[in-house]
Amino acid sequence: MKMTEIGIGLLGYGTVGKGIHDLLEANGEEIAQRRGVRLSIRRIAVRDLSKHNSIDSSSLTIDAMEVINDPDCQLIAEVMGGEEPAYSCISRALELKKPTATANKLVVAKHWPALIALARKNEVGFRYEAAVCAGIPILSSLEVGLAGNHIDSITGILNGTTNFILTRMRDSNLEFEEALDEAKELGYAEADPSSDVDGWDAAYKLSILASLGTGLWLDPELIRRKSIRQISNSTILAASALGCQIKLAARFSNIEDSQTANVETVFVFPSHSLFGVDGTENIVQLEANPIGKLQFRGSGAGAGTTASGVVSDLIQLALDLKSGHQRLPNPILGELSIHRNTSEPAAFAVVSSDDSG
Ligand code: NAP
Ligand code: HSE
Repeated sequence: MKMTEIGIGLLGYGTVGKGIHDLLEANGEEIAQRRGVRLSIRRIAVRDLSKHNSIDSSSLTIDAMEVINDPDCQLIAEVMGGEEPAYSCISRALELKKPTATANKLVVAKHWPALIALARKNEVGFRYEAAVCAGIPILSSLEVGLAGNHIDSITGILNGTTNFILTRMRDSNLEFEEALDEAKELGYAEADPSSDVDGWDAAYKLSILASLGTGLWLDPELIRRKSIRQISNSTILAASALGCQIKLAARFSNIEDSQTANVETVFVFPSHSLFGVDGTENIVQLEANPIGKLQFRGSGAGAGTTASGVVSDLIQLALDLKSGHQRLPNPILGELSIHRNTSEPAAFAVVSSDDSG
């Protein structure tokens, strides 16, 4: 097999950026042998050079556009996070016809129509597998493996940080702030963890799943959200005494002309598939026609699991670059209009069997 070396421009070298570097160090040669593409990180953009003394200074810069413009960087991986400059960087890379992968759910969910249109206009690959449930290959499954199905519903635990916090509060009797500090320390939380705890991160992921599953953009602002801040240890203990668990669940329903999308705090009984999904584990349960019920479950946050998703995208983009035929994202058919219940949501929804949500 003819070997092609492909230069990567890495925007960000935090939890995920380092994870990508480490994955390529560990598996890069095997990937090269199996797939015929050797991924080589050529330039890295960071915010603060003084934090990165271990990296060869000639590859480092604080100017992300310098990396994007560098002809040695044929593919771009955006793992900086936040809305700006991430959105401008991804847009610029696509305008320059550089295939781009990102793990940034905020940017993908909020700017999905513009980014897909830009990628299609410039006939360039744009992938974002790690933006939802990190390494669980749910987006490629929706896009490819389930392409012939109608998606009736999506139910899941989509945020690792909140699931980790609720698990630590339950199992080790930690206070909310103590458990959040652990999640931050372990690299699971967003740079602004209110995105995790107030349900935004799960809403962005639900938006991406629903948009990809229907071809219609679900504006994440339309998704009703609950925060986990108000959940006390005594409530968690009370749930345990009843034999159930508290989870932050994301639910999208797409039955005939009625679509709903919510991120809500739920009491889960043992008969429900969300029960026992603990720590940073994520789960996505799909109901689709004709395939029926499907479950995807696995680690949803952290360096290695997220790098797995980004590198799988980079391999696909590299193979497309090598073949000279780039697969473009599917076109957007319009916007989803959501039926919004305007009454104050219940503190906790109760889900006992999979049929109840
Ligand atoms: P992080 O640890 O905070 O790392 C962010 C990196 O980006 C840092 O290296 C930072 O530089 C750099 N950076 C930030 N702003 C920059 C700017 N304006 N110019 C150049 N570099 C800049 O974040 P992370 O946890 O790796 O997350 C990155 C992205 O992956 C986010 O979109 C997140 O939502 C997504 N994601 C994360 C996980 C996870 O488990 N952590 C899972 C799935 C998806 P300094 O190092 O100099 O500060
Ligand atoms: N902060 C996110 C989470 C990272 O905890 O799920 C993975 O997307």
